[in-house]
Amino acid sequence: MKSLIVLWILIPSVLSTLPGLSGSVPTLKRPVPLGVHAPGVNGGPVQKSPVEVYLDEFGYTASSNELEPPTPFDLQMGLLRFQMYHGLYRSGLFDVETEEKMALHRCENEDLQNGATLKAKMLLHPRFRKWRLRLNRKFMKKLGLELDTNRLWKKKSLQWSIQGTPNSLTQKETREALVDAISRWENIGGFRFFETDSPNSADILFSFEQMSDKKHPTVVSRASGPNQSRVVFDKFQPWSHVIQYPGSLSLHRAALHSIGHSLGLQHTPEIDSLMNPLFKSAQLFSKITAIPNEDDKTLRELYAIPAPTVTQSSGETLKCPKHLDSVTAVSENLWFFFRKYNVWSVKNRKFQGEHRRIKEVFPDGPDFVNATVTSNGLTVLFAERTIYGYQYDAGRFVKAEGFPRELHERVLFFPQAAFPLTNGSIVLLSGNVFATYDVLANMPHILNDKNRMFPNLPFDVRSGIPVHTQDYSRYYMFDETTVSEWQSASHEATPAKPITDFFICST
Ligand SMILES: *[C@@H]1O[C@H](CO)[C@@H](O)[C@H](O)[C@H]1NC(C)=O
Ligand SMILES: *[C@@H]1O[C@H](CO)[C@@H](O)[C@H](O)[C@H]1NC(C)=O
Ligand SMILES: *[C@@H]1O[C@H](CO)[C@@H](O)[C@H](O)[C@H]1NC(C)=O
Repeated sequence: MKSLIVLWILIPSVLSTLPGLSGSVPTLKRPVPLGVHAPGVNGGPVQKSPVEVYLDEFGYTASSNELEPPTPFDLQMGLLRFQMYHGLYRSGLFDVETEEKMALHRCENEDLQNGATLKAKMLLHPRFRKWRLRLNRKFMKKLGLELDTNRLWKKKSLQWSIQGTPNSLTQKETREALVDAISRWENIGGFRFFETDSPNSADILFSFEQMSDKKHPTVVSRASGPNQSRVVFDKFQPWSHVIQYPGSLSLHRAALHSIGHSLGLQHTPEIDSLMNPLFKSAQLFSKITAIPNEDDKTLRELYAIPAPTVTQSSGETLKCPKHLDSVTAVSENLWFFFRKYNVWSVKNRKFQGEHRRIKEVFPDGPDFVNATVTSNGLTVLFAERTIYGYQYDAGRFVKAEGFPRELHERVLFFPQAAFPLTNGSIVLLSGNVFATYDVLANMPHILNDKNRMFPNLPFDVRSGIPVHTQDYSRYYMFDETTVSEWQSASHEATPAKPITDFFICST
């Protein structure tokens, strides 16, 4: 116990001295006094304050004796754990940021177990990714991360059924949201899903109930795992259907999370993961159409399924790819073309020889990219919500100071495209939303509807490259297979043509 505490005190303080790990600066605007637990009536159980209830119910503090209130030290530890889990400044006080996070809608399942596996769970935080890679299995075991294989499905075909609807949605909408969420998990970890008419024989039963016994007012759902999974949504929550709007909660999003529990996944601090316990990190305005890599990976690890071998899709020659994930220009003539795990250099639109692994070309880089952009001599790669930065120098990419870093929390979506702006900011896009982003300050400026500010971009735009360097009046705008020219003042676009006509394949 003693060593645990020492570790606890050491980890945060060591980390905050490392560059890039310190997170945001202390922002203790207004310490909110902790509601003090009231003594029990006639020697009965003490009345815990709402904060004490929260920390206790979701596993941040060890469940305290009913008659004995938690000590101020227990409480401070609980708050530190909560703050670390959610990437907040670790003040150990119930500060404004902590209060805001605790007010978010959430799943009722625990985040930690009685504070016990905390050390281990913390290592799952993205900031610890590097450390995690160094952990071997034995160490993981020591930390209590061992898997309980009895809590896994022994079969791959699961039957599901729906009972009831929430008050805010019709039966058709409810079904649509759930069926779509289920379909996204199809084949992840090898699972298949079939609907059944009889709720009693369902492996996964979704129901809408009053949840009058919920542990905390912010709870909107709960879900048990294998082998009889019961997912309960709060019937009286004003659910929106699939798309999440400000102030509403998408049933689709909550279902994606809950099905993760149904399959055996637990909460994780990773903000890219569907299994983050707070329902805020959803993509605002746009629908989640794919299970994040993080969750796919965790599920595969859980069921010990080997990673899929990397195969090129048919018709994709390694020499001259016909599809792009992203493309960026380090100079007017030298571009880099990304597809899956590979990158090609392109000179004057001509592919230069064989592909190479992204990781080989970009030191400590990602396996794949979702978006790339070069602005002010800095080439940035986005993979999920991690930003990798490089300078191109003497024929190779060199890691830029202060990278990788995480995308600012205010950008709720996962970038799928990017292009540079004249003032050094970049535009990040996903579905129908965009953010202008200052990469160096790691701050978003405007967040808005894509079609209002940038009409006529390709529907599924991936990358934009100025036709001439330093001239941001005209861009080549790429989607996966086509390119068009787009004027930034008039927003006019030329008809799209295939990228196979744009890039030259030198055989
Ligand atoms: C499901 O779990 C129960 C107890 O939790 C157990 O009795 C039963 O055998 C399990 N069924 C399967 C198919 O594993
Ligand atoms: C990011 O790219 C990976 C690999 O191509 C893909 O599986 C994932 O869905 C992408 N994420 C988003 C949000 O588009
Ligand atoms: C660059 O321009 C965009 C769009 O006009 C704006 O949102 C952003 O704040 C500007 N960036 C800087 C660093 O001034």
